[in-house]
Amino acid sequence: MTGLQGKKILFGVTGSIAVFKAAAWVHALVKEEALVTVIMTRAATRFVSELTFEALTANPVHVEMFGHAVRTPMAHISLARDADCICIAPATANTIARLANGMADDLLATSVLAASGKPVMVFPAMNCNMYMHPATRDNLQRLRELGYIVVEPDAGALACGDEGPGRLPEWDRAREQLLACLCQQDLAGQQVLITAGPTREVLDPARFLSNRSSGKMGFALARTARRRGAKVVLVTGPVSLEDPPGVEVVHVTSAREMYEEVIQRSSQASIIVKSAAVADFRPAQAELHKVKKRSAPDSLALEANPDILAELGRNRHPGQLLVGFAAESRDHQEEAGRKLREKNLDLVVANDISGENTGFGADTNQVTLVDHQGAHPLPLLSKEQAADRIWDHIVTLVAK
Ligand code: PMT
Repeated sequence: MTGLQGKKILFGVTGSIAVFKAAAWVHALVKEEALVTVIMTRAATRFVSELTFEALTANPVHVEMFGHAVRTPMAHISLARDADCICIAPATANTIARLANGMADDLLATSVLAASGKPVMVFPAMNCNMYMHPATRDNLQRLRELGYIVVEPDAGALACGDEGPGRLPEWDRAREQLLACLCQQDLAGQQVLITAGPTREVLDPARFLSNRSSGKMGFALARTARRRGAKVVLVTGPVSLEDPPGVEVVHVTSAREMYEEVIQRSSQASIIVKSAAVADFRPAQAELHKVKKRSAPDSLALEANPDILAELGRNRHPGQLLVGFAAESRDHQEEAGRKLREKNLDLVVANDISGENTGFGADTNQVTLVDHQGAHPLPLLSKEQAADRIWDHIVTLVAK
């Protein structure tokens, strides 16, 4: 399973005021059970002491290459050899210049040279003028040519008072980059279309019919697919989630809007996953003005919305993989099996919505994967873990 748990990360910290943010990243990594070993440059120890990172990781922090202070035999080789990836954050202009020139003048630079074949991620953080200087731009370009992953800094107010690019990104963006660098790119080359969230069906200017979908499941599918190398388009109903980085997000409100956007994009997609909770019905008439209590009708006339998934199943092109969801509170496998056959799908994710920790709104989910070979129940997982398990299964279907 992909994720940060158990991943060995050699974390290089260099001398910038942004070390305080790096400490928060290391804390977040340890919370996700990554195994973090920190190398600090001497300049970094002027900003915070080794003790900070030792306390956060419960591991010795490495600074020196020679002498009594060396904490591990042959540290300049062994630390990189044991790591799954090297992450340098913050990376100063000086360290970037040293790495670009293949210097081996301290433990961090030497470890990077010794990390043959391991992914090296560089997160520049510095004053905006230093960052935009042609020398730094050239050095960053050289790092890219060497195969290092350079993550652009955020722009904004900097610690020195200037404004511009040079801020270390927030953890969420850094985490995505780290996960993408650590996980297999088994969806590379795939064009994935995902739907998420609820739809809203307008009754009058104040009211609508909708459901409890938060979009969490569909957004987790989009994030994890992007990480695994896919080009992702996410068509989502109204939710209060941030757009996943690197994903093209199309915001819609009603089922009919979702229908238009999905059908229009479907022919370019190699994999379509429909996790949205689309309203089956809409009010037969959307009132122009708010319906007054005194004139409320006794009953509400409804009209059927188009079944997007069924339409996709009728018109799928050869080689396109089509995945539906089925929100069920009972007879999960039977209902999912029926949808699989009736809608001409490759896989149905039967979502148990009977408990508090699963289905609508929850952060965790309990799903069973139903394909033409049978049913594969998964344990209760975070929605991100469930998304990864769904992609694992899809990858096996693609390979068939
Ligand atoms: O968003 P969250 O809070 O994270 O919750 C996740 C979820 C419970 C919404 C999600 O995991 C889920 O189960 N989504 C499908 C919900 C649903 O509408 O199920 P259904 O059995 O009614 O629909 C079956 C399938 O047909 C779904 O793929 C649905 O997208 C699709 N459909 C339904 C109606 C319609 N008019 N058009 C469709 O394409």
